[in-house]
Parts: sequence; C-alpha cells; structure tokens
Amino acid sequence: MTSTSMRTHQCGELRAEHVGQTVSLCGWVGRRREHGEKLAFVDLRDHTGVVQCVVDNEVDVRSEYVVRITGVVRERPEGTANDALPTGEVEIGECRVEVLRRATPPPFPIDARADEVDEQIRLQYRYLDLRRERMQRNLRIRSTVNSAVRAAMERQGFVEVETPMLVPSTPEGAREFLVPSRKEPGSFYALPQSPQLFKQLLMVAGIDRYYQIARCLRDEDLRADRQYEFMQLDMEMSFVGQDDVLDAVSEAVLSAAEAVTGERPDRIERMTWRHAMDRYGVDKPDLRFGMELVELTEVFATTEFKAFAGAGAIKAIRVPGGADEYGRNQLDKLTDRAKSLGAKGLVWLKVTAEGFDSPVAKFLSADEAAALRARTEAEPGDLVLVVADEWATTCEVLGQLRNDIGRPPVHQGPYRYVWIVEFPLFVGIDATTGRPKPGHHPFCMPHPDDLHLLETDPMAVRALAYDLVLNGWELGSGSIRIHESELQRQVFANLGIDQEAADRKFGFFLNPFEYGAPPHGGFAFGLDRLVAILAGEENIREVIAFPKTQSGSDPMTNAPVPGDPRQLAELGLRVLPPAT
Ligand code: AMO
Ligand code: AMP
Repeated sequence: MTSTSMRTHQCGELRAEHVGQTVSLCGWVGRRREHGEKLAFVDLRDHTGVVQCVVDNEVDVRSEYVVRITGVVRERPEGTANDALPTGEVEIGECRVEVLRRATPPPFPIDARADEVDEQIRLQYRYLDLRRERMQRNLRIRSTVNSAVRAAMERQGFVEVETPMLVPSTPEGAREFLVPSRKEPGSFYALPQSPQLFKQLLMVAGIDRYYQIARCLRDEDLRADRQYEFMQLDMEMSFVGQDDVLDAVSEAVLSAAEAVTGERPDRIERMTWRHAMDRYGVDKPDLRFGMELVELTEVFATTEFKAFAGAGAIKAIRVPGGADEYGRNQLDKLTDRAKSLGAKGLVWLKVTAEGFDSPVAKFLSADEAAALRARTEAEPGDLVLVVADEWATTCEVLGQLRNDIGRPPVHQGPYRYVWIVEFPLFVGIDATTGRPKPGHHPFCMPHPDDLHLLETDPMAVRALAYDLVLNGWELGSGSIRIHESELQRQVFANLGIDQEAADRKFGFFLNPFEYGAPPHGGFAFGLDRLVAILAGEENIREVIAFPKTQSGSDPMTNAPVPGDPRQLAELGLRVLPPAT
C-alpha cells in the first residue's frame, strides 16, 4: 500500500517471509559499521523502522544521507540475528546504493540519545528531532486520536463547522492575542481562545450538533500542559440535558483511547465537585493513588488544642510508611509548603505502636487521639498530616500536599478518567468589583434545584457545569448554557454587570438569543493533553510537531521577531520601550 514508483517496501516491514525477494527501499542512513575489508553494514531507516543493509564499503554513504537501496532480502547468518529489532532476522544483500541526497552531519544522533539533548537544540532542529522513532510515534498517535474522535462525532450525527480565527474579544478569562486591523488603525481582532460564542450561535442557527477540531490561542504562562496554541475537540448540542453531553463526549474520548491502546476504558465514573474537594482537595482529582482526605471536624468539636479549636473544617491525610521517610527537616519543609498554600500551620504525627510521636500529641485527649487513629486507619510507621481552617483552605492545602507526596507522573498508567459535575456557579470574590467571579464563564446554567438561591445565597448555587479529568489533568470543560435572557440578566446582576454593560459587552452575542435559542450545552477537551497521556508523555510539547519553548519562542523560526518598521507604519503602530 505504501509502495511507490521509487520503493517496493518500507524498511521496518521486512521479515523472514520476504527472504529471496528483491526489494527497493528508500530512507536515511543510520549507523554504519565496517565489516572486514570489503563490506560495511549500513542501517537504513524510514518511519517504519530500521533494516540492516550489507553494502560494498567503497560506497560513500554517511549518517543521514538520503538513499535508495535495491537488494535481496536474506536470512542473517546463524547466531547474528538481532532480537531487539523487528527486522532482526533478515538483512539486505547484493545492495545497489543510489545516493539521492548527501547530508550535513546532524547536530545530535537521530535516536533515543537525543532525549538527553537540550530542549532548545531539539526545537531548533525540530525537523531532525521529528525523524526519531519516539516523535514519529507521537505524531502518529496524534493522528490516530484525531481520526477516532472525528469518526465518533460523525457517528453521533455531529456536523463539522469551521469558525473564524479573527474574532472580537470574548469573556472567557484567558489573556488574548491581538491582531491589528490595517483598514481600521487602532482597532484589533482577537485570536479565539475558543469557538465558544460561535458554537452557541450555531445552535441558534439550528445546526443541532456541531463539532470542530479547533485551534485555540491563549496568551498564558506556558507549562507542561499549556501552550499558546492548542487544539480542542469542541462541540455543542441542542435540546439536551447534561447526561446527553457527557455521553457524547465520553464516546469520543473512549473511542480515541481505544484506538491508541486497543482497550476501551470502562464507563467514566462521576463525582460531584463538592465530593472531589472533600476527598481529594482539588477539582481535578488523581484517582490513581489513595491518601484521601479524612474528615475529623467532629472529632475535635470540643477540643482544647488551640490550633484546632473552632476551625470550620479539620481534615487529615495519612502517608503510609511516612514516619521513617520524613525527618525533621522534611517535616519543616512540608509545614512551610502548607503555609505557603494558605494554611496557618501543619500538624504532623508519626504513628507508633503506643500512640503518636508529635510535638502536639500532648494536647490531644485520649478520645481524640483514638478517634484520629481510627478514622485515618493509621498503622505504626505511618505519618498523619492535619490541617484546621476554613473548609476551602483545609481541602486545598491537604489536596496539594497529597499530590506533592503521592502523585505519580501524569503519563504513568493506569488511566483513571472521572467526570466532575456540579461545579459552583460562582467562585471567590473579585477584589476590584467586590462581586462573585464566574466559576467557568458567565453563560453556564445554574442548577435547577438551586435557582431560588441566586438572590439570597449566590455562592451556594451549583452550575450545570462539568469537567473531564484524567490522571489529575483537566482534559476538558463544558456546561449547559443559559438560553433565557431573564436568567442571563440575573446572573449578570450577580456578577455586577448591569443591563447597559451587558448590552455593550455581550450584545452581539446575546441579542441573537432573542430570535429563538434552543436549550443547549456543550464541551471542549484538549486534544494535546489527551494525546500526551495516551502517548506516555509528560509534556504536551512532545506531541506537538512545532511547539513553543517554555518562554514562548520557537528556536527554529526565531518567532517572535521584532516588527518590520514598514509593516508597523502600515498598521499605524509605534512600538514603545517596554514598561519598567
Ligand atoms: P476551557 O477553557 O476549560 O473551556 O478549555 C477546554 C480545554 O482546553 C484545554 N486547554 C489547553 N490545552 C493546552 N494549552 C492551553 N493553554 C490550554 N488551555 C485550555 C484543556 C481544557 O480543559 N469554551 C470552553 C468549553 C465549553 O464550555 O464548551 C473552553 O474553552 O484541556
Ligand atoms: P501554635 O499553637 O501556633 O504554636 O501551633 C502548634 C502546632 O500546630 C504547630 O505545629 C503548627 O504548625 C500547628 N498549627 C497551627 N495552626 C494550625 C492549623 N490551623 N492547622 C493545622 N496545624 C496548625
């Protein structure tokens, strides 16, 4: 199928069954070993693998030369087969070598040794880095995921629609990239942080089920799971409730996982946001390991220990076998970490056969000590860490410590997917406006059971908003949207946005809803993140062909580069010295 007018086979596919056939292969020269006076072994490589070719050592082929080799497949002499290589039973003899292109020696070896090469250099020569087996594999996994996701969406009746890249600013929270308008100097387009507004308008337009493998752009600080540019599987559907959306997304994600791993994960479990915070202290719990948060508030309801008395929530985590592992120094570090996360302190207790070895053990009553031990199921040799604070702080601090101490690298199996549902509609208070901040974005539908609380206790209102989490990474987010203007106005009022401001900021988006918006909801998940985890990579850079470095540059193209004065003039722009 992949034969061409230049080749009959690909390097990696040759096996004992091909012995005796004359084949033509094309590829790059890998290692070359001299073999006696007359012959040399040359490894020929294409994306399918490597095969050994026995060539006349007079032939001038060197590392990374592009060659076409025609020869006869033969069994390797007894005792020389290479089990580590899929083609290791055979070699190509009687070789005729055509050099198609000579090559400058590469700056690093085109194999696993390049994993150790400085990232800057790998990205500067990305086209060479990508020749390597690992990167070839990653890009192909990516392609497999894309096509599985696409097929799953098509199967479910979704229609692919492309949305624009030059858009107005949207209220989704991330900093945007701006593109100056030449026709209207001083005006700017934004690059889309997501197709959110357009996909909702497609629902007003009666598309019913939309999807897109969409490029999104956000000017954020880059991390292992963040790039400026990334891809989402973006979708929206009409006349649905939350379950319909979760089912449709699950089908796409599970199909992609199955296409890569050969195994379809079980149905994805669900957990409320409240439960996730209570038990794991984060809204993206990693379920691959235990050390869950243990509830102790009641145990210390009447405590005389000052640090615990009157606290809103007291919880603990148990570090199995941690008593020996953590010396005084490390415990001080854990305490500092807890404080930097907002705790007032951290109580640590080493569990012994008799009781607890801890500076605060003497402050605990016998009943409290017994209950603490029973609830945490602590065994001698364990370490128990306790935080007392407001509910959110207690959960968040212990959740972080749990991750710090126990979390395996994200790409390590098994895969644990979980839906987090019932996110709060509002989170925290905006320091400048004194008003609640939207949990996700301002267009999420409040939970129907909580509508009566919108005016009286807005912070307690749950939203029909949900995240999909895999191994502690947020894969994606979505919600059922508000499609009634009265309710939207109420939510805006909670956010401190009055009618006039709402019309000015979001009019172009909300006015169309007056023309008959169907009930609708949707979701978007990060393809780069899913591909990275399925490919066993810790950083999404490894599954993106041409990514940016941590500092946002591309060492291959040198982007970003200073603006050309003529272009700037045409755009009516002048660059000021950086603000100090
Ligand atoms: P959200 O902002 O949560 O939701 O984004 C959805 C998913 O996109 C991925 N993602 C990223 N991946 C790589 N680099 C980044 N900088 C980056 N930022 C986000 C994550 C994330 O979970 N419009 C809403 C979805 C909706 O409500 O339908 C949205 O974009 O995997
Ligand atoms: P203190 O009474 O402030 O000297 O604290 C006694 C011990 O309790 C120290 O180990 C503190 O780190 C710890 N501690 C203080 N406040 C808290 C708290 N809110 N939660 C958990 N531990 C605390």
